Amino acid sequence: MGKTSSKIKTKPAASGHAGYSERQTILSGMQPTGALHIGNLEGALKNWIALQDDYDMFCCIVDWHSLTAEYANTTELKAKIFHMAVDWLASGLDPDKCAIFIQSEIKEHAEMHLLLSLLISVRTLTRLPTYEEKKDEQGLDSYGFLGYPVLQAADIVVYGAHKVPVGKDQSKHIWLANDLARRFNHYFGPTLVEPEILLTKMPLIPGTDGKKMSKSAGNYIALADSEEDTTAKLKRMFTDPKKLRKNDPGRPEICPLYKLHEAYSTADNITETIVPQCKSGELGCVECKGRLIANLNQSLAPLREKRVELLAKPDYIWDILAKGATLARERACLVMENVRRAMKTNYRD
Ligand code: TRP
Repeated sequence: MGKTSSKIKTKPAASGHAGYSERQTILSGMQPTGALHIGNLEGALKNWIALQDDYDMFCCIVDWHSLTAEYANTTELKAKIFHMAVDWLASGLDPDKCAIFIQSEIKEHAEMHLLLSLLISVRTLTRLPTYEEKKDEQGLDSYGFLGYPVLQAADIVVYGAHKVPVGKDQSKHIWLANDLARRFNHYFGPTLVEPEILLTKMPLIPGTDGKKMSKSAGNYIALADSEEDTTAKLKRMFTDPKKLRKNDPGRPEICPLYKLHEAYSTADNITETIVPQCKSGELGCVECKGRLIANLNQSLAPLREKRVELLAKPDYIWDILAKGATLARERACLVMENVRRAMKTNYRD
């Protein structure tokens, strides 16, 4: 690490792919929720890390998106951004391979957002399920929140991204980004890359209460948790509710703990060990948890060590975010130049 060079090419290339690079481009984004949990790691980050060798990759901390809901509560935003960047790097995102940056440091997102907002009706936006749910859940009905998916589309097309690695819950938003790029191209000629979803395999990581792991539910295991915290949390984890005593037969297929074994105990040949032992009643939940605790802590150990090292070097982290922003800005400026030319708003050229 520490090299300033990056494999991301921003010069027009002869071979196509929108002319920005000879490789395809990926844009990934995540709201700055602070320290990440293993659900984020398994569901998103591991996929991103697997992609960074083969694509021009832009990894964006979307702080403006989090403001659409948390506009009145910004005290911790900076710390959340910092901790998320630390966790991304500790997990293996490599600043020499991808651009890691903060959305609000690239003003071109805002310009693109405004232009795309001209091409979509309010009615289309109010009918999106994500809008309807959150509006009722959180009482959000601002103009800015309504535009959340338009801003997301801007995040994507402003880099000329071909693919966006997300889970199914985001598919409508990526479809919308594609639709907006098409509309733009229809009105102004072929300019924007029409992005596609890169549906990522998302192993469902249950939280300690058996429901989906999430920050707000407080049922998560954070990368930042110590081995002791992790152990304590997993000891309290829900298992098959019908397996009350050690020797009761259990049902791995419905047990949330078993889902974690599937992610972290693959070396143990679990289908031939844990599954029959649990089903026969030979294996009790306490021992089963012990095996998971050992495997999970072992698997997270290198990442946790790296996290602690990175936390001690805040300047280095902010530096990476600055270098990422420089790379991102370079690409976004090229795309915006093409956009202004296409719209004939490049008045001084
Ligand atoms: N809406 C995404 C989420 O909640 C976050 C996001 C914002 C995003 N902009 C993006 C994801 C661009 C992918 C690409 O997860």
